[in-house]
Amino acid sequence: MNIILLGPPGAGKGTQAHRLVAERGMVQLSTGDMLRAARVSGTEMGKQVAAVMDAGKLVTDEIVIGLIAEQLDSASGGGFIFDGFPRTLAQADALGALLESKGASLDAVVEMQVDDEALVERITGRFTCGECGEGYHDTFKKPAVENICDKCDAEGKFKRRPDDNEEALRTRLMAYYKDTSPLIGYYYAKNKLKRIDGLGEIDEVAAHISGALAG
Ligand code: AP5
Ligand code: MG
Repeated sequence: MNIILLGPPGAGKGTQAHRLVAERGMVQLSTGDMLRAARVSGTEMGKQVAAVMDAGKLVTDEIVIGLIAEQLDSASGGGFIFDGFPRTLAQADALGALLESKGASLDAVVEMQVDDEALVERITGRFTCGECGEGYHDTFKKPAVENICDKCDAEGKFKRRPDDNEEALRTRLMAYYKDTSPLIGYYYAKNKLKRIDGLGEIDEVAAHISGALAG
């Protein structure tokens, strides 16, 4: 099964993708994670996108489509979860063409609906483990032992994203409403759209997603 998790910054796409990977053996393809990895490894592309990402603007379609195209040849396990991709109509068209060229298709697009106030709260409290990428939150998902990752036991490795500040978040939200939200109508017209309430607790949202994928 190949699915898209569609939603604004902080909607919980990464959190739910990690669960689907653990529970269903799916493969997460997050363009945000790929771009951040390129920055850490210091590639030319990584340097090129750094300022754009920190400001909360969208990276070019050409770069992110290239990243996804490279990954689609890898083994998909229980299917791919596209997290944070596509984000423009051009990216959506490119994904459809790429999947078709591999004899594959998209099964569902899960739109995670969360109101803006909750997004700000989620983003400003977020931190992740620098070792394994596990996501946490100051209020909603604290590690069991302070400063130690529940998943990989790394100590003192938590970090916060440079684009998780109020100004960049405003730009990210604007990019979502202007460039990405037209995908809701695009996938509705293709009969792929499943809308779920993303406002509840993490387990509740996971149950909504399971229900949407089963139905
Ligand atoms: P990306 O990394 O994709 O960021 P984003 O879309 O802004 O989304 P986030 O990762 O911030 O949020 P999320 O929905 O994954 O939420 P999470 O699960 O972490 O992109 C970053 C940048 O890269 C972009 O701005 C752009 O520059 C560039 N980029 C990436 N892809 C691109 C593309 N395709 N085209 C162009 N440019 C691209 O959850 C957030 C917090 O809330 C966490 O702390 C979590 O613990 C908590 N939380 C999660 N669920 C719940 C819940 N149900 N209740 C309470 N708390 C919760
Ligand atoms: Mg994410």
